[in-house]
Amino acid sequence: PEVITVGDLANRMAERGADVIKTLMRMGVMATITQTIDADTAELVVQELGHRPIRVSEADVEIGVGGGQDRAEDMVPRAPVVTVMGHVDHGKTSLLDALRKTDVASREAGGITQHIGAYQVQLESGSRITFIDTPGHAAFTEMRARGANVTDVVILVVAADDGVMPQTAEAIKHAKAAKVPIIVAINKCDLPAAKPDRVRNELLQHDLVVEALGGDVLDVEVSAKTGLNLDRLEESIILQAEILELKANPGRTAEGVVVEAKLDKGRGPVATVLVKRGTLKVGDIVVAGSEWGRVRALVNDRGATVPQAEPATPVEVLGLNGVPLAGEDMVVVETEAKAREVTEYRQRKKREAEAAKQGRGSLEQMFKQI
Ligand code: GTP
Ligand code: MG
Repeated sequence: PEVITVGDLANRMAERGADVIKTLMRMGVMATITQTIDADTAELVVQELGHRPIRVSEADVEIGVGGGQDRAEDMVPRAPVVTVMGHVDHGKTSLLDALRKTDVASREAGGITQHIGAYQVQLESGSRITFIDTPGHAAFTEMRARGANVTDVVILVVAADDGVMPQTAEAIKHAKAAKVPIIVAINKCDLPAAKPDRVRNELLQHDLVVEALGGDVLDVEVSAKTGLNLDRLEESIILQAEILELKANPGRTAEGVVVEAKLDKGRGPVATVLVKRGTLKVGDIVVAGSEWGRVRALVNDRGATVPQAEPATPVEVLGLNGVPLAGEDMVVVETEAKAREVTEYRQRKKREAEAAKQGRGSLEQMFKQI
């Protein structure tokens, strides 16, 4: 069914009508500004123009234009979201664990109760930092490809006794491509073999120039083992975050991204979600990738059930009907009917894509045999 005029679509995306018409032409569709097009075509145009289509029903496409829909007066400061990256064994997990021990709230609560893929640390100063536990480079790239670029800052962990290694270089490449500022944590500085200056020089070869060498990249010599300079690392993150002026509208319909998801024996499908905008509440009907459900419970990074989760807060979401994929979006929808419609549509698309892939595979095989 024809659902939207070219003009309306352009309007919703805040694009010029002429650009939408040009995009349509490239897709082989001739249309004027007043003509209507179907939802499938609209979805493609939206993607072509670099926006994120949200298929709310078979016949309707909403457009998630990154942040653009929120009014300035509704925006409030939010915690920075930090992803830790680096070469194998350079101490990413250790560093996250050590940073988490600095958390005021969990110290009060008597220690860390559980491990989830993302957590928030509250500093003595009251500032909060959200850390995403090494999703691995693949997951990071995947999230970026899906337009779910949730990371504000990358902490690049480099072991001072080992220096820049292949995965360090890869992490730099990913962070640069995503235009995310990098803070270098030169780790394992407790070791006698530590050569932090060598690390700084090696980074130079990857166009990462630290302050000491005349650049603007912050670097901190740390040790996850002894806790050396963890406060300085946190200060650097806060400093970087202040420059970015991170804000979100907590009042809107919630949107988030799945950081990790699993099938829990006792609790069923559990998705760790980082809320990007809006406030996610118990009872909300959510669509996550091609799964949906009514939020039965929200569990925070300390294992406590909470009634809601604000922007930049990671929570476990219980109540989904299936396990979504890491990197997929989670959105709140109005009715179960809509949730069903969207997920059925997405599941069908997935099946079609699978079928197409298999079809192409056999065709390639056929050509090989000729
Ligand atoms: P992968 O997840 O496998 O990529 O490794 P990782 O980067 O998470 O490293 P991990 O935290 O597992 O640490 C690797 C090893 O280095 C462990 O044996 C840690 O105990 C050790 N290690 C981490 N940080 C430090 C440090 O600051 N000093 C010393 N001496 N050892 C450290
Ligand atoms: Mg690790």
